[in-house]
Amino acid sequence: MLRFYTAGESHGKGLIAILEGMPAGVPIHEEYIHVQLKRRQLGYGRGARMNIEQDRAEILSGVIRGETSGAPIALWIANRDWRPDEPDITRPRPGHADLTGALKYNFRDVRRVLERASARETAARVAAGAVCRRFLEELGISILSHVTEIGGVAATWRPKRWEELREAAEASEVRCADPNAARQMMAAIDVARERGDTLGGIVEVVALGVPPGLGSYVHWDRKLDARLAMALMSINAIKGVEIGLGFAVARTPGSQAHDEIFWEEGVGFYRGTNRAGGIEGGMSTGEPIVVRIAMKPLSTLLQPLRSVDLITKEPVEAVVVRSDVCAVPAAGVVAEAMVAIVLADAVLEKFGGDHLSDIKKSYEEYRQRIKE
Ligand SMILES: Cc1cc2nc3c(=O)[nH]c(=O)nc-3n(C[C@H](O)[C@H](O)[C@H](O)COP(=O)(O)O)c2cc1C
Repeated sequence: MLRFYTAGESHGKGLIAILEGMPAGVPIHEEYIHVQLKRRQLGYGRGARMNIEQDRAEILSGVIRGETSGAPIALWIANRDWRPDEPDITRPRPGHADLTGALKYNFRDVRRVLERASARETAARVAAGAVCRRFLEELGISILSHVTEIGGVAATWRPKRWEELREAAEASEVRCADPNAARQMMAAIDVARERGDTLGGIVEVVALGVPPGLGSYVHWDRKLDARLAMALMSINAIKGVEIGLGFAVARTPGSQAHDEIFWEEGVGFYRGTNRAGGIEGGMSTGEPIVVRIAMKPLSTLLQPLRSVDLITKEPVEAVVVRSDVCAVPAAGVVAEAMVAIVLADAVLEKFGGDHLSDIKKSYEEYRQRIKE
């Protein structure tokens, strides 16, 4: 239903995202996309580049007078530190695409790999995701995220209400809703920075207002959990995805692993718990979708790891390019964008139409039927 492509290199002229399949009639402005791009750039532990970048997306096509037209939407984000003539790099960094990319494409210069493999590309995803997010808002679906762990420091408290959780996370420099844990996370980042080291962590992404029945129990490749896992795993440095109880479910007895079903006049069917994280049988249940991602510590270390020069085959230290200490808070914003893209696609699959008004009508009819 929905396709999106990105193009561009980390220090090229800029990035392009093309989003195809968005219906007509969705109100969207550059300023809305800008807010999301800015969120990706914030966060304690980011490097100097974030101050240079100040991303802005320019809408090149597919939006007329502030509304999508149904045509492909092309978005352009200029790179402010465009550096076309950088020297070759022959010292591949462990944990990056550097060595395998050079072998695969027959490059003697690792820069040709890292320019594209860099997570700079995720800015284009956030821009495309912002359009999807705006579309989902029209149907009452919203997405939030919060950091639950950095460098082994875990949040132990969280506000009970989603809106409060969202506000607390947005107000935190590490996007963590537990202020005590947030302080410890920042201290851990400071220690890692001093040591020339890096830190990973865990982010939880939550989608609210999702109706039951998105995805499929019929087709393996349309299962919502599978689509979310792929989209989230595709983010640079994400090494694990879990939904609901996640891996803990393997250690939980069946009596405490599932969500019992209830019904009430005026409310309809509902669950007392949400251990499944809002997805059963490859479909959304109507409960909040709760997904967590695990991010590895960044691979570019100021105290470089051991490597081998591509040309001389001599042992060397991996190249150090400007890098973050911790990008977990930013990864949460990228993850929100990927969840928005997957959910927008699943909504279009179920309620598809060429104009937003058609989709809203079909969506309302379905909701009414479910209620009855
Ligand atoms: C938002 C974001 C920012 C990142 N920034 C850096 C960085 O500054 N330095 C770094 O070494 N890796 C960074 N990464 C991770 C690398 O891009 C990633 O580890 C690398 O491309 C190899 O891919 P893989 O870890 O998925 O195997 C970042 C990832 C994300 C999502």
